[in-house]
Amino acid sequence: MNCRKDFSILNIDDTVYLDSAATSLTPDCVLEKIGDYYQNYNANIHRGIHNWAETATAAYEGVRSIIANFILTPGVEDSEIVFTSGTTHGINIVANSFCADWDSNDQIIISEAEHHANIVPWQQLRDRSGVQLQVVSLNEKGYLEFDQLVDFLKRRCNRSLVAMSILPNATGVMQDWQKIGQLAKMYQANVLLDGAQSVPRIQTDVSDCDFLVFSGHKTYGPTGTGVLYAKKGLLDQSPPYMGGGDMIKTVSFDQTTFNEMPWRYEAGTPNIAGIIGLGRAIEWIKEQGLDNITAHETSISDYAQEALKSVERVSVFFPQTAKLGLVVFSVDSAQSSDVATLLNTQQIAVRSGFLCAEPILRNRVGQGVLRASFGCYTTTEEIDKLVAALHKVLSIL
Ligand code: ALA
Repeated sequence: MNCRKDFSILNIDDTVYLDSAATSLTPDCVLEKIGDYYQNYNANIHRGIHNWAETATAAYEGVRSIIANFILTPGVEDSEIVFTSGTTHGINIVANSFCADWDSNDQIIISEAEHHANIVPWQQLRDRSGVQLQVVSLNEKGYLEFDQLVDFLKRRCNRSLVAMSILPNATGVMQDWQKIGQLAKMYQANVLLDGAQSVPRIQTDVSDCDFLVFSGHKTYGPTGTGVLYAKKGLLDQSPPYMGGGDMIKTVSFDQTTFNEMPWRYEAGTPNIAGIIGLGRAIEWIKEQGLDNITAHETSISDYAQEALKSVERVSVFFPQTAKLGLVVFSVDSAQSSDVATLLNTQQIAVRSGFLCAEPILRNRVGQGVLRASFGCYTTTEEIDKLVAALHKVLSIL
């Protein structure tokens, strides 16, 4: 791909940035769009009737259709797009609003591969409401054990919600997310798909789910932005997760009536500049072609996995399975933090530790790991530099 020129940050030094699963780099056009808001029409939305306020409102609201057209299935309406601060916020809205009255007769089904954002909100819900929390295992290749999922779905529960990552950040193994959605529907379960890692990498749609969450900052956009797609009707009557300005219709000291979707879940002044920047990021992805990004990241991931497998003392997680966007590995007889620190001295930026997915890594690997993750700007030369640096590290450790 020919997109490196769009990222000034790639020219500031010789950093080899292999941490895009934690946060992707942001192209200059997104920074300019954010600057344009602050420099030319810095005003609050939905409140003022002056020109700047109208311009800001139109720019912010216009992002809903950019998202609806790009990420989602045809026919999705702007009112189904809730702006959030990120994936974590989106999942918390569903846990606290859609599932507000769930109890011990209901169940949430997650997978072994989930990151903390898709574990902790459900545990908190379980601890206060008694809802059952089920965990489906992965098989030896890193794919979901569908038989177990079906066993859970067949249990006699009032309501079930399947909440799973499409592309888990601790495995890089793409799950069959359409099948997850279709199976859940066969058993009248609701489905939340976590697209934090998949939305920037593959064409994701909402044909087979009720909720889709993702983060702006992993999608070439600003931090503190994200999207919750919620199918029409599902969140319209639920108790709002947060109270405050803009999520109301009327307020008196006796009672408040709540706004409609999507503003019902956007209490307070939102990240206006960020959401406008997110819209530009999505347009930028469209200009690159998401299919080109998928193809590029597939080939970089294959290249990286094979290169890492050839390094002595390195064990790749689920080595026989193709990866997308990231490769997780560990080094025999070395702490992941030591390896990452020594790689950093050679200007190689990787992530180390439990990757915000402690359960699977503790259970399967038993220690922290290293993760090299990629974006559309990552090159094979950068992977070669990682491998050369790793050889140097291994000669020391
Ligand atoms: N969840 C993010 C990661 O995978 C922060 O690194």
